[in-house]
Amino acid sequence: MTQRLTVIGTGYLGATHAACMADLGFDVLGLDADEGKIARLAAGDLPFYEPGLEPVLRRGLDSGRLRFTTSYEEAAEFGDVHFLCVGTPQKPGEYAADLTYVDAAIGALAPLLHRPCLIVGKSTVPVGTAARLAETVARTAPVGGDAVLAWNPEFLREGFAVEDTLRPDRIVAGLPAEQGAAEHAEKVLRELYRTMIAAGTPFLTADYATAELVKVSANAFLATKISFINAMAEVCEAAHADVTKLSEALSYDDRIGGRFLGPGLGFGGGCLPKDIRAFMARAGELGADQALTFLREVDEINIRRRIRMVDLARQLLGGSFADRTVGVLGAAFKPNSDDVRDSPALDVAASIRAQGGKVTVYDPRAMPNARRAQPSLDFGGSALDAVRDAHVVLLLTEWQEFRDMEPTAVAQVVAERNIVDGRNALDPERWRAAGWNYRALGRP
Ligand code: UDX
Repeated sequence: MTQRLTVIGTGYLGATHAACMADLGFDVLGLDADEGKIARLAAGDLPFYEPGLEPVLRRGLDSGRLRFTTSYEEAAEFGDVHFLCVGTPQKPGEYAADLTYVDAAIGALAPLLHRPCLIVGKSTVPVGTAARLAETVARTAPVGGDAVLAWNPEFLREGFAVEDTLRPDRIVAGLPAEQGAAEHAEKVLRELYRTMIAAGTPFLTADYATAELVKVSANAFLATKISFINAMAEVCEAAHADVTKLSEALSYDDRIGGRFLGPGLGFGGGCLPKDIRAFMARAGELGADQALTFLREVDEINIRRRIRMVDLARQLLGGSFADRTVGVLGAAFKPNSDDVRDSPALDVAASIRAQGGKVTVYDPRAMPNARRAQPSLDFGGSALDAVRDAHVVLLLTEWQEFRDMEPTAVAQVVAERNIVDGRNALDPERWRAAGWNYRALGRP
């Protein structure tokens, strides 16, 4: 019999997972506490921007295999497998992850579990959480030991969410210690992911703690790689060297590799920054804080890039932002996303505004989220609109639209031809040839 799936939490991760699993032929019920979000999803309208996801969502709805609800009773009754996809944001004023949503979901679901099922955690959690949740389930589920928990971390990138879900690099299954339960969980997971496994995706089993750690250590490594090249950018700035050439030369070493070695304004988003902080907090609780003190430096290097960007812009304006106009291109934390969580671009824009600059921002997709997050900024209707009369233009998110801009066309509307390329995304020669004073992070 085909497994019936529920997906609890329908944000970037859950909505993508629900739609993709329906596309693979499973009957899927998505659940979220947010009624507005559920109404939009049920109408085939994505509450966020993710390239390629809306057609998959619509196909699922049209086929009748994908439905949405806000009812835990309905989910508990329906599901053979319950995927847990709720968010684990950073706690306000602390490094640790906020597990409110995870605990609330398990707290609501477990007491309603009257039939055998597998709960599959996908949220990014501090190591030790799965074991604790398994205990809660065992204690509160009426079906007792027939409700089994597995931990199956998710590695999807925004902007590539469908691709990463349907063709993941690897599948990691954190299994319970008890052998019968572990064998059952592994069998179900292999069945759910059989198309990917058949296509050659490595399937690894581990204990709960290792599976939880795979996710946070992967993000810690990626963050470290970005901060490494940005630290080299700082040295390049001091030594009048070019970090983009340096990065390219490093990338030809297979042991290093070129991906996530892009120097610039650094990382943001809903994952890397909060995940490395939660990882440090958890290591501290475990008495292993020394092992991760380097992540504090990774975080600080990353934040210093934003400060350096503001300093460079101020310097180009003769030392002050007062009465000066700044055109900001980009608000999302990266291109092909409308996500502004911990966005380096918005952070820089807000900081210049706070220092007295008149800042106008444009982003192809993230305008509504950016407005909500930073209502004191001005927003333009287009890239040219945002840089009109600007004394300096800042490229902060490397959308293709900005890479393709014609330097001579932009020159027509600005007050002064100053540009800082925060993502090393433009061709300096082209811009300089059109009379621009081109500056970039980590380059002479
Ligand atoms: C990340 C992980 O890649 C993914 O595996 C995990 O599941 C969730 O976190 P995401 O947050 O979508 O995914 O973004 P990602 O593409 O990893 O980029 C993160 C940030 O790093 C962005 O702000 C991006 O601009 C920055 N970045 C990336 C760089 O500054 N330089 C690079 O070379 C690469």
